Amino acid sequence: MATVVAAAILLSPIFCQKSIHFSSSNSQFFGGVSKKINFDEKSVSKRRDLGGFVVASANAGTGGAGRFYINFTGFPFPLGPFLNRRTIRTEALKDSIWLFEQEQALGFSSVSTNIRMTVIRLKSGGLWIHAPIAPTKECIQLVEELNAPVEYIVLPTFAYEHKIFVGPFSRKFPKAQVWVAPRQWSWPLNLPLEFFGIFRAKALRDEDDSTPWANEIEQKVLSLAEVGIGPYVEVAFFHRRSRTLLVTDAVIFVPRRPPDCISKESLLKSAKNGLAVKILSKGKEVPDEPVVDNSSNRQKGWERMVLQILFLGPSNLLEPSATFSQMSRKLIVSPIVKTLVFSKVPDKVRNWIDKIAADWPFRRIIPAHFAAPVNAGSSDLLAAFAFLNELLDDRSIAKPSISLVFASIFGKAASYFPPDDMKTLSSLDNFLVSVGAVKKTASGRRS
Ligand SMILES: *[C@@H]1O[C@H](CO)[C@@H](O)[C@H](O)[C@H]1NC(C)=O
Ligand SMILES: *[C@@H]1O[C@H](CO)[C@@H](O)[C@H](O)[C@H]1NC(C)=O
Repeated sequence: MATVVAAAILLSPIFCQKSIHFSSSNSQFFGGVSKKINFDEKSVSKRRDLGGFVVASANAGTGGAGRFYINFTGFPFPLGPFLNRRTIRTEALKDSIWLFEQEQALGFSSVSTNIRMTVIRLKSGGLWIHAPIAPTKECIQLVEELNAPVEYIVLPTFAYEHKIFVGPFSRKFPKAQVWVAPRQWSWPLNLPLEFFGIFRAKALRDEDDSTPWANEIEQKVLSLAEVGIGPYVEVAFFHRRSRTLLVTDAVIFVPRRPPDCISKESLLKSAKNGLAVKILSKGKEVPDEPVVDNSSNRQKGWERMVLQILFLGPSNLLEPSATFSQMSRKLIVSPIVKTLVFSKVPDKVRNWIDKIAADWPFRRIIPAHFAAPVNAGSSDLLAAFAFLNELLDDRSIAKPSISLVFASIFGKAASYFPPDDMKTLSSLDNFLVSVGAVKKTASGRRS
């Protein structure tokens, strides 16, 4: 997902300029937006086993009330759900890393994904919090259950969907230091951090060994000034003891099944043949049948959400399974981030990725969306970014190492995206280039 919001940010100039007319392929962007809000209470499951992780959901007593979060977060890009966010905590590594997830919907659409906060216990016993989520009562209780002081709250990105929760979250833990990725900006108004309730934040710097956590967690900053209407900034972290790489939007691993925090209601709503499906059905007749709650309909809902998040306008939303299976269960760069951001400045992205792969012997990756932890090492990361080689000049690619050769063999799979599904993104890209909202994609030996 970066993605949903990165896209919203990049798309917003379009929404604001009513005088611009769309070709039929561009009109697909509006497909996913339906107008209903879902106010349903979600059912509470107190404790469950999920593929070996202990899954805790706060005390059933707090139930729906603990999830109440009324805030039209994110004007002018509203992010749902608006009234009720369930938080699910899983222990990724015994006594040292926990994942906290909530559902995150884009505006009033039926498209949502999971957003993840990661909590690491430092040697001091205190907690280091990466990319905080909405501080509902339930969420705060799940943090407090870890029985350790929150020492640091870290915002690893400029992206709005993560930034909006830092202020409210830090007010719950006023003793914690707040650290943020450099070059923060917002659109359409470039508002100062204070507007988001973030005060006295320190800036994360590239390979800074003077941070208070430097002997346990290292960091590398990707800062792309020239991609579009604002810089793309993401900070990657490496937790040495557990050999874990933390990223925000750089890579994702789409799981086959929907994440637990996505409600049944959202999945079924997305399984319904609405407007988006009618537009994106490859000309096939779209049946208008009611959606019963069964496992295949929930799965269909999930697959449709994923394709819209990845491609904005996938070629066939009516029958999502074929594209879904190509895009799921492997480490990939989300097509939106690839097309609108990383392909614009391949050399800088390549440097960042190469340094991560060379310096950090990680064996698992925790991104802020979709599945985590992903068992993956540097060759998987290089494979996901193999598309950069095609954009770079021959001369700027050093002699490939053995691991890179392997990576590009497997990379065929990891960076191959179905061309039909990429059409909307490519035409969006062309459009944004033509109005000057994003930079032209770097042309390398392939073009
Ligand atoms: C609601 O959202 C705004 C930003 O959109 C933020 O500044 C404010 O602190 C939030 N309030 C709460 C209670 O989370
Ligand atoms: C679920 O319901 C749909 C109709 O909406 C039906 O076609 C499908 O076979 C059902 N699947 C299962 C597993 O019952």
